[in-house]
Amino acid sequence: MKPGTQRSISKRKIRRAFDRAAESYEQAAVLQNEVCGRLLEKLDYIKLAPQMILDAGVGTGGAVGPLLQRYRGSRLVALDLSERMLAKALQRGSLFRKPALVCADIENLPFADGVFDLIFSSLTLQWCNDLQATMEGLLRVLKPGGLLLFSTFGPDTLKELRACWQQVDSAVHVNDFVDMHDVGDIMLQTGFADPVMEAETITVNYASVDRLMLDLRAIGANTLAPGHRTGLTAPAALANLRRAYERFRVDRQLPATYEVVYGHAWKAAAGRRDDRSVKVDFG
Ligand SMILES: C[S@@+](CC[C@H](N)C(=O)[O-])C[C@H]1O[C@@H](n2cnc3c(N)ncnc32)[C@H](O)[C@@H]1O
Repeated sequence: MKPGTQRSISKRKIRRAFDRAAESYEQAAVLQNEVCGRLLEKLDYIKLAPQMILDAGVGTGGAVGPLLQRYRGSRLVALDLSERMLAKALQRGSLFRKPALVCADIENLPFADGVFDLIFSSLTLQWCNDLQATMEGLLRVLKPGGLLLFSTFGPDTLKELRACWQQVDSAVHVNDFVDMHDVGDIMLQTGFADPVMEAETITVNYASVDRLMLDLRAIGANTLAPGHRTGLTAPAALANLRRAYERFRVDRQLPATYEVVYGHAWKAAAGRRDDRSVKVDFG
C-alpha cells in the first residue's frame, strides 16, 4: 500500500465538521466552486448519455443543477456524510427534478452492483481512509461502460501552511494528500479501465493567515488527521505561525497553493480488454 492511501480519520469528526460548515460553505468555497466547475467542463469532451448519476460527496450541491441540465433524462442521487450538506443540496435542481438524497459514507456505498452510468465526485476523495477500498466500491456500483470522474487534492496542497506549522510545533496541522500517480495506480489495481490523471496548481491569495484558516474552517476543511491536537491553539503558537508565513508574502498577499488532481476512468464494458497503464496529462 502506497504511503498516505490508508489512514484513520474519524467519520464522526468529518460529519461534524461538514455539518457545522453547511451554512458558511457557499460563501467561503471559492476554490471548491472553481474546481467543481472545471470538473464539469471535462464532460464537454466525453460522449455520455447517463440515466443514473451519483454525485458522491455532493456538499451543498453545486454540481446538481449543471448535471441535471446537461443530462436531461437522468436521475441524480446526491450522497454525503453530512445531513446538513444534503439539506442544502436538496434546494438545487428544479421543482420537478430534485436529487434523491442518501446520507452515507463514500467508503461504504449502500447501493446494489451496477446502478450508475456516471459517478461524479468533486473534492471528496481526499477525506477517504482507504482509497483502494473506496475505488473498489465505486467500481462495483458503476454499470459496465460507466464513468467515474473526480477531483481531489495532491500533496502540494497547502504546502506553505504545512511548512510554517512545522516550524512552530510537531503536531499535525494540515491533512496529507495522496500523489496523483498513486491514485492512478490504485485505479488500475482496482480494475478501472483507461484511467487518465491530470494535475494543476491553483494559488489563492489571502490578506492574512487568520483569513486562510477561517476560510478552511468555514468550508469544513478542519485538520482531522491522527496526530492533530484538538482544542484551541495557543496564542503564542499562532503568533509564531503568522511570523513564519510572512516569508511567503508577495505584493501584500499571502499565497496558499492547491494542487488539484483530476481523474477519470471507465468500468470496462463486458468482454472488452483495456491496456494496463495510466495516462498522465500535465495540461
Ligand atoms: C469539500 S466538500 C465538496 C463538496 C462538493 N462536491 C463541492 O464540490 O462543492 C467535501 C464533501 O464531502 C463530504 N464527505 C467527506 N467525507 C465523506 C465520506 N466519507 N462520504 C461521503 N461524503 C463525504 C463532506 O461532507 C462534504 O460535503
